Amino acid sequence: MANIDKEQHWEKIYETKNFTEVGWYQKTPTVSLSFIEESKIPKTAKILDVGGGDSYLVDHLLDLGFVHIHVLDLSRKAIGKAKNRLGENATKVTWINSDILMFEPKEKFDVWHDRAAFHFLLDPKETQKYVRIANESISEDGLMLIGTFSGQGPTHCSGLPVRQYSIDKLTEVFSPYFQKTKCFQTDHITPGGARQHYTFCGFKKIGK
Ligand SMILES: C[S@@+](CC[C@H](N)C(=O)[O-])C[C@H]1O[C@@H](n2cnc3c(N)ncnc32)[C@H](O)[C@@H]1O
Repeated sequence: MANIDKEQHWEKIYETKNFTEVGWYQKTPTVSLSFIEESKIPKTAKILDVGGGDSYLVDHLLDLGFVHIHVLDLSRKAIGKAKNRLGENATKVTWINSDILMFEPKEKFDVWHDRAAFHFLLDPKETQKYVRIANESISEDGLMLIGTFSGQGPTHCSGLPVRQYSIDKLTEVFSPYFQKTKCFQTDHITPGGARQHYTFCGFKKIGK
């Protein structure tokens, strides 16, 4: 899908739907928060939520006392919605309106988080580019958490086709630069009550 089409697609989604109406909505992103808690991430860590949309992860990270939170999303509208919700607190977050494949970071991140954005990349050239950008953007001891639909999960999300990942497949795609720390699969229940099966993998850099 061309860049402009992707952008238009997501702008329309965020213009026409409230966050609580979309399949990926979670009031408390428990899997992501558990990963951050278990990894004993210091409060000063630079955290990047890739394709964060208007997820509540940022609200929870602020509540937990993290001070270097960055949210990147293709959709200007999504970022606007998250900022509106946060009010004054939005100024404590760095907002990046970019396609992740065009992202040229000016700093390194200690935690790279992506729930349900990576799986929209269908072309292997794009997934390889994402993995390269992640490697270049993450600090030497940095960690990453990637969540995608599993092989038993949906084939589409928000009307777009996705690439489904088993644990082995997700590990393999990131293997040029990353080693898995912990992978697991879990169901997410959408606001409409549907079950969506996800694969999550935590990774650390292997220092290439
Ligand atoms: C299914 S939503 C998930 C939102 C959030 N991560 C969550 O778990 O609630 C996917 C998000 O990824 C963003 N997105 C999709 N492709 C992207 C890309 N190539 N670069 C940056 N953001 C992207 C969309 O705008 C959307 O906000």
